[in-house]
Amino acid sequence: MITVKMQIKHSICIFYLKKKDIAGSIARRLIKEVMNEKELRAQFPLIENSKIIYMDNAATTQKPQCVIDAITEFYTRYNANPMRGIYELSNLATDAYEEARNKVASFINAKSSDEIIFTRNATESLNLASRILDGKINEDDEILIATSEHHSNFLPWKSLAERRKAKVRYLDVNEEGEITFDSLKGALSERTKVFAAAWISNVLGRVNPIKELARIAHDNGTLLVVDAAQSIAHIPTDVQETDVDFLAFSGHKMYGPMGIGVLYGRAELLEKLPPFLEGGEMIDYVSKERTVYSEAPHKFEAGTVSAADAYALGAAIDFINKTGLNRIEKREDELTQYAFERIKGTAHVRIIGSKEADRHKGIISFNLDGVHSHDVARILAESNICVRAGHQCAKPLHILLGEESSVRVSLGFYNTKEEIDIFAKELFKVRERMGC
Ligand code: ALA
Repeated sequence: MITVKMQIKHSICIFYLKKKDIAGSIARRLIKEVMNEKELRAQFPLIENSKIIYMDNAATTQKPQCVIDAITEFYTRYNANPMRGIYELSNLATDAYEEARNKVASFINAKSSDEIIFTRNATESLNLASRILDGKINEDDEILIATSEHHSNFLPWKSLAERRKAKVRYLDVNEEGEITFDSLKGALSERTKVFAAAWISNVLGRVNPIKELARIAHDNGTLLVVDAAQSIAHIPTDVQETDVDFLAFSGHKMYGPMGIGVLYGRAELLEKLPPFLEGGEMIDYVSKERTVYSEAPHKFEAGTVSAADAYALGAAIDFINKTGLNRIEKREDELTQYAFERIKGTAHVRIIGSKEADRHKGIISFNLDGVHSHDVARILAESNICVRAGHQCAKPLHILLGEESSVRVSLGFYNTKEEIDIFAKELFKVRERMGC
């Protein structure tokens, strides 16, 4: 056995290879086959160098060193305003930005990088989708929203309906957190123009069968807008195979930086839809009399873009690809199953949504009898454990399920069973601390 050190985007990764493998492609073997769980976790300086037990990955993931370095790299090597300069440095900035777009397109298997619009985050992406669809909605049309949605995929559609004097209908999930095909068919009408649903619920961790939902929506002539914020870093995304119309996600929930998000839109739709924001670098021609907008995606990206953050998102995608999304998913499933059993086994705990561990993709929300979710989270925080508590920006779902709020554990592949054990031990003490 020999040790090989390689530089990947400024991060030194150590690989252990058998001698006979050296002749083969080291690059092909990268993190995927060789880096163990401990070495992968060591790529994340914040959790590696602290006592924090970070279990709030659905709010934002931690960042690997290669992503942190990519931000510095952009500002030290490529910084100029992209798409504006005639000089070489601006061309380099443009290339860095557009290369990131290509990486996103390939990551979700879009037909073309022209289908990728950069935004600030998933919320902005969903708001943008709702604004550019404005002209497609008429009085008495219907917009269908899954009640389980995060406010980001709920409020923009509610507002769109109000602006256009259309009707909003809600599709309730069952107590398992499931959108059934029959309930969807029953909720669609000939006037339903848009259906908004998440790929994975940020509270329940339930994976929705997006391909089938798209087929049912399309059979009805309805567009499907998918919030992929909680799925993008955890399960494979293929926009062509699933045939979704719009898909929104944030960079910061996939190991990338905050401040960069994506709206994917099918090319045939984006071509015909008008921009929302207007200003710099989104036109081909402007005079007092006439405006000619650029083609998509640039007509939807007015003003100076977050090029460094896009570049670093590209580094995050490289990181996921090199680690292997299947490997990430498998490890997260294993950790979720483990955490689920520990939480379920705690007295006075009520898990929200399905009672089956494999119906929770990295996310487990629960309540502890007699203790408010904020108190649970605050007591856990005293032991450096980070979880989310409250309505989790999904108040309509909590109302539907008869819960005021909940505590959420959301795991990343870099969490460990030892961390889950510490969490379970501290959770067990909470009721006693509260004098229950
Ligand atoms: N949308 C993020 C969450 O659910 C912030 O926590």
